[in-house]
Amino acid sequence: MACNRQKDNTQNLQTQIDSLQANTYKPGFGEFMSSIQVHHNKLWFAGENQNWALADFEINEIKESLDDIKKYCTDRPETNSLGMIEQPLQNVIDAIQQKNVTAFKSNFSILTATCNSCHQATQHGFNVISIPTTPPFSNQDFKMQNGK
Ligand code: HEC
Repeated sequence: MACNRQKDNTQNLQTQIDSLQANTYKPGFGEFMSSIQVHHNKLWFAGENQNWALADFEINEIKESLDDIKKYCTDRPETNSLGMIEQPLQNVIDAIQQKNVTAFKSNFSILTATCNSCHQATQHGFNVISIPTTPPFSNQDFKMQNGK
């Protein structure tokens, strides 16, 4: 008798856990992409200004969002195509670490082309990414401050 009641309670708890999990907010693939879009833009202006600390920060934001897609978007077949961006991303990271603006710019172009390769491969070829011409926000300064 006591044993059965405990089983009922456990089942109740499990039902509650399941319903909590179903209602937990999880950002979708498109939301991660919108975040990547902003950091891709900022990354360009950080690198162009040779503000390597900011460039390093921005590329890590992109990396984190890509990792989050891997973690949270396992139900999306497009997630399987993420591997193609790893080497281009690493090449930009290397250029930032070497503080090499020429390598930064050429590798940023390759990175951008890879964004588009994946969009084409995943039937989102209408989402075309390009090298930005203006920063996303007017209230952020991309120049290095006090030589740092
Ligand atoms: C794994 C393949 C893949 C890679 C790599 C990729 N994307 Fe995407 N991207 C997608 C898919 C799939 C969508 C559509 C997401 C959805 O369902 O809303 C998308 C959508 C977008 C959108 C539209 C978001 C919106 O809702 O308006 C932007 C902007 C974008 N990506 C930027 C980028 C940038 C910048 C890069 C490179 C740094 C990149 N993507 C790399 C697959 C990829």
